[in-house]
Amino acid sequence: MNLIDQWTTEQRYLPYHKWESDYVKHLLDTVNQSKWRTTFHIQPPSGLLNDPNGFSFYDGKWHLFYQAYPMGPVHGLKSWYHLTSTNLVDWKDIGLALIPDSKFDSHGVYSGSALPYNDKLFLAYTGNVRDANWNRQSFQLGALMDQNNQIEKLDQPLILPSNDYTEHFRDPQVFSYNNHYFLLLGAQDQQLKGKILTYQSDDLHNWNLLGELKFTKEDMGFMIECPNLVFTNNQVVLLFCPQGISHDKLDYQNIYPNTYVIGDNFNPTNNSLTNPSQLKNLDEGFDVYATQAFNAPDGRVLASSWIGLPEISYPSDKDGWAHLLSTVKELTIEQNQLIQRPVVEMKELRETKRTIEGTLSAQVATLAKNMEHHYELKLTIDKATTGCLTLFATDKNSGLMLHFDTQNGTMSVNRKNAGLSFAEDYGYQRDFTIDKGSLNLQIFVDVSVVEIFINDGKQVATTRVFPNETNSDILLTGQDGHFSGNIWTLRSMK
Ligand code: FRU
Repeated sequence: MNLIDQWTTEQRYLPYHKWESDYVKHLLDTVNQSKWRTTFHIQPPSGLLNDPNGFSFYDGKWHLFYQAYPMGPVHGLKSWYHLTSTNLVDWKDIGLALIPDSKFDSHGVYSGSALPYNDKLFLAYTGNVRDANWNRQSFQLGALMDQNNQIEKLDQPLILPSNDYTEHFRDPQVFSYNNHYFLLLGAQDQQLKGKILTYQSDDLHNWNLLGELKFTKEDMGFMIECPNLVFTNNQVVLLFCPQGISHDKLDYQNIYPNTYVIGDNFNPTNNSLTNPSQLKNLDEGFDVYATQAFNAPDGRVLASSWIGLPEISYPSDKDGWAHLLSTVKELTIEQNQLIQRPVVEMKELRETKRTIEGTLSAQVATLAKNMEHHYELKLTIDKATTGCLTLFATDKNSGLMLHFDTQNGTMSVNRKNAGLSFAEDYGYQRDFTIDKGSLNLQIFVDVSVVEIFINDGKQVATTRVFPNETNSDILLTGQDGHFSGNIWTLRSMK
C-alpha cells in the first residue's frame, strides 16, 4: 500500500470514518518510522498540523488545540486537536476535539480561540460550509467544553457571513477587556483587501460589529489571517498574518509573514490601537506562522506558533505528516520592544550539562561532536566581533550556519548546506539586524526543528532543517572575543 501522492478534492474532504483502516494503519506506521519526528515539540500523530488554536488555562490545566488534518500531509477537512498540560512542556494527548459534524462547519472547523466562561471553556471558531458548486460560506461559531473535555456546540452561529466581506472571514479571537467581551476576526473586504474586524458582546453569544480595527494606514494585502491582541506591561501587541502585503511595506521573504504592531492601548470607543508602531516581523527565520498568544491568569502572555507555512511542501510530507507547534514562548514589551523568551518551564527538560568556553579564532572550535539532535545551547560572546556558529555540522562548510557580525549588528541563518533542501523558491538564507556588541544565543534543537532566541529574546529565528546523518557537530569560528556557555541534552516530552 502506498500513501497518496496527488490528492483529489474528494479525498481531502472524505469524512475521516470513511477511510479504510488499512490505509490509516499504513499511514501511522509510516509516520512512526519517520526520522524527522521530534522529541519535545507538539507534532501530529499523523497528517498535517497547522495553527495553534484555543490556547488557554482552564480547570487547573493549560489547554492547547491545533488545526489538524489527520489523513495526510495536506490541507483537507480540518478539525481541532486537543492537548493539555500542567507544566507547558509535557503535553497530554486528548485527541480530536471539534470535528466538522454540523451544518455550520461541515467542510472544516477552522481556527479560533478559547476563554474560560463560568465553569466551562468557551471555544470560538470558524465553520466552513461548501455548496454544490464548492462556494464557501464562513460562520463564526461557539462551543462550550466542560471539565471532562466534553464539547457541546452552540446551535446558532455567533456571527453570520456578511455581504461586506468575502468568504475569507475567519479566525475569531475572543478576549475580555474592561468588562466587555471582544472578538477580532480576519477578513477580506469586497475590494479584496485584508482587514481585522472588531465585535463586542456582553454574553459571548450576541455580537455587535464595531467595524474595522484601526491600527495602520497602510494596505495590508489581500487577507489578514489569525488576528490576536494581547495586553502586556501597559501596552498591547497585535499579532496577525497579512497575506500578500507588498514588500515595500514590510521586508519579508517567507511566502506570508507573521507580523505584529505594538500600541499604547486598545481603544474600543473608536476601535483603534492607540499610537500603533511600525509593522514588524515576529520571527526572523523561515517557518513561523499563525502565532496565537493569550493573557494567562498567572500574568504572563504566552504564545505558540505554527512552525510551517501555507502552500509550502516539506520533506516530512512523504512520511505522512507535516509541521509542528513551537515551544511555548513568553511575550513581554521592554523599552517599547517585543521580547519573546522560552517559558521558564523549558528548564524542566534539561538533563546533562556540559560547559563550553574559549576564544573565538579563525581556527574552528568544536563545541560538541556527534550530538544527538535534542539539546539546548546557550552561548555568550563577550564583545563585538564576527563569526559563525554551525549546527548540524559535518565540517565548517556544511550544516546550519548562523553568521554574526556584532560590529555592524547583523546576523543570518543559512540552511543551504544543512541537508535536504525545500522551499527553495523563498531562498535559503534569512538576514536581519541585531544589537551591536556582545551576543547571546539560546538555541533549542529538536531533530528537524531549531528555535533560536537572540539577545535574551529580542529576536527569534525559527527554522525547520532536515540534516544528513553525518551532520552532527557544533562548530564555532570567528575573529576574536571570549565565548562561554552550556549545552544541555534535553529529555523527551512525557
Ligand atoms: C492560517 C489558516 C487560518 C484558517 C486555518 C485553516 O494558517 O489559513 O486562516 O483558519 O489556517 O486551517
